[in-house]
Amino acid sequence: MAYLEVKDLSKFFGTFQAIKDIEIEINEGEFVCFLGPSGCGKTTLLRCIAGLETQSSGSIIQKEKDISIEPPSNRDFGIVFQSYALFPNLSVFSNISYGLINNKWKKEDINKRVNELLELVNLQEHTSKYPSQLSGGEQQRVALARALATSPGLLLLDEPLSALDAKVRVFLRKQIRDLQRKLGVTTIMVTHDQEEAQTMADRIFVMKDGEIIQSGTPKEIYNKANSPFIASFIGSMNFIPASIDASKKVKCNDVEINCDIGSFSENDNVQLAIRPEEIQFQQENQDDNVVSGVIKEIEFLGSFQRVYFKTKNFSDELIIVDVPSSNAKKIKMDIDNEMSLYFSKEDARIYSI
Ligand SMILES: Nc1ncnc2c1ncn2[C@@H]1O[C@H](COP(=O)(O)OP(=O)(O)OP(=O)(O)O)[C@@H](O)[C@H]1O
Ligand SMILES: [Mg+2]
Repeated sequence: MAYLEVKDLSKFFGTFQAIKDIEIEINEGEFVCFLGPSGCGKTTLLRCIAGLETQSSGSIIQKEKDISIEPPSNRDFGIVFQSYALFPNLSVFSNISYGLINNKWKKEDINKRVNELLELVNLQEHTSKYPSQLSGGEQQRVALARALATSPGLLLLDEPLSALDAKVRVFLRKQIRDLQRKLGVTTIMVTHDQEEAQTMADRIFVMKDGEIIQSGTPKEIYNKANSPFIASFIGSMNFIPASIDASKKVKCNDVEINCDIGSFSENDNVQLAIRPEEIQFQQENQDDNVVSGVIKEIEFLGSFQRVYFKTKNFSDELIIVDVPSSNAKKIKMDIDNEMSLYFSKEDARIYSI
């Protein structure tokens, strides 16, 4: 039995449908992400689960209890908003203890719990400071401690890291993930950052225009994206116009590509999709899936180099190839060098146009 079930949930704002027939099951202790572009309905869905928004239809079941029409105060969750939303006039201690006081905890229990939480988020030294005296990352850790204070069964995080700078974000990603594992609290995090979702989530629900268009582990979503939209939203992807020829092979201009055509049939127009890191500069003799051309541009990106490659075989589209810097040293990569590219049959996917 799933810990949280969202059944056929829809939400209209006037005539606009922000979320459409959402079906979700989340297991106890799982960390899931709602991932999608701005405006796709992530926050609306999270707010419906919290009871901060009322769905137009459908139901929400938490721990086998139908909570669809319960007010937020009767639901078992803690929430962290994108903008911290700490009380500016309360100290760190008072911010964290706020919910405990509301729940009429005894003073000594509150002291004990707040100290536990301060230790958990590593803010023991900041207990009497006010939010304006904390960095963004520290404020977000206070918000996290406040959300966890009453030991909720469900932790809801709405873009908790997006207002922070890149270094703090990466640090907090790991802190939140470690904390979640340690506590085993079922967690839903909303994000539009695919890297964040991929590094943190057990399972990702990809959303677009109010719908969940794919769900799966980060690996499944990356390797088996079910649409060109997801394939390009998560990671980078080269798309090359192609068609299926009479011998049921994929054809780009004059080159026949050896790859699985799935359910496509003769004369279908398709897009061949290959990830930049799955293309190699040819070093051994391969027969299939080799194209020749020239390097037009090289970008140095630290751990890898991004090469823009022009080939007549692929309608002159620039192909992006990511070469690990350790390999780049072994290959003679110069602008206007004549080179050949190779990719394996397994790494080539095709999508409809
Ligand atoms: N209270 C509201 N009244 C009217 N429309 C709303 C309301 N709240 C959200 N919407 C609309 O619903 C759609 C989904 O909004 P939502 O905030 O859920 O998106 P999101 O995926 O969280 O986006 P972002 O990544 O920018 O936060 C948007 O088009 C938004 O304008
Ligand atoms: Mg949002």
